[in-house]
Amino acid sequence: MGKVYVFDHPLIQHKLTHIRDEQTGTKDFRELVDEVATLMAFEITRDLPMEEIDLKTPVSNTKGKVLSGKKLAIVPILRAGIGMVDGILKMIPAAKVGHVGLYRDPETLKPIEYYVKLPSDVEERDFILVDPMLATGGSAVEAINSLKKRGAKNIKFLCLVAAPEGVEEIKKEHDDVDIYIAALDEKLNEKGYIVPGLGDAGDRLFGTK
Ligand code: PRP
Ligand code: URA
Repeated sequence: MGKVYVFDHPLIQHKLTHIRDEQTGTKDFRELVDEVATLMAFEITRDLPMEEIDLKTPVSNTKGKVLSGKKLAIVPILRAGIGMVDGILKMIPAAKVGHVGLYRDPETLKPIEYYVKLPSDVEERDFILVDPMLATGGSAVEAINSLKKRGAKNIKFLCLVAAPEGVEEIKKEHDDVDIYIAALDEKLNEKGYIVPGLGDAGDRLFGTK
């Protein structure tokens, strides 16, 4: 059964407040999303397997723990997920990066897939699927379908702001996927935007409308 983790760390919450602020311009928005992604990567990698190695310090022989080399892949949902990739790579630089391109039809709110590129060894990797926004959940569910169809078995979903509707949708369709969120907001409005949310994440990240 997938779990839902909401990160209440003060640094994440502080930065998220500035991300939400409509006065925050593209440059600061992008930098803050990058910083929060780094902090979330720190939390999301807590359960990575470790192994013990022998080493010598300048003082004595000892043993130390290192990551056991689990293969990871980060997959942003295009476009807005791109804004979180570099921040995560700062923590796990050896991860491969795949891409799933989806956009929400503005009328139906249904996701339309237009691009998928994943590492060739899909079945051996653990996946971190990233998107700043989980609204109706349609995009995340479709992206998870896309990863699973290609052989992915272990998937975590990481987002900044989620609506309860989106969380329920992932739980309903993919109850093996853990969900990591910086903030669980109140609701969706009639246009499918998260309230209070932060507006259109892609537009704010890239300065387009
Ligand atoms: C936004 C966001 C998610 C999706 C969430 O992308 O980045 O991918 O909406 O909505 P949902 O949970 O209702 O599916 P959008 O479709 O606006 O595309 P973009 O990233 O290219 O701006
Ligand atoms: N996509 C966004 O970028 N923002 C929302 O509030 C909902 C979907």
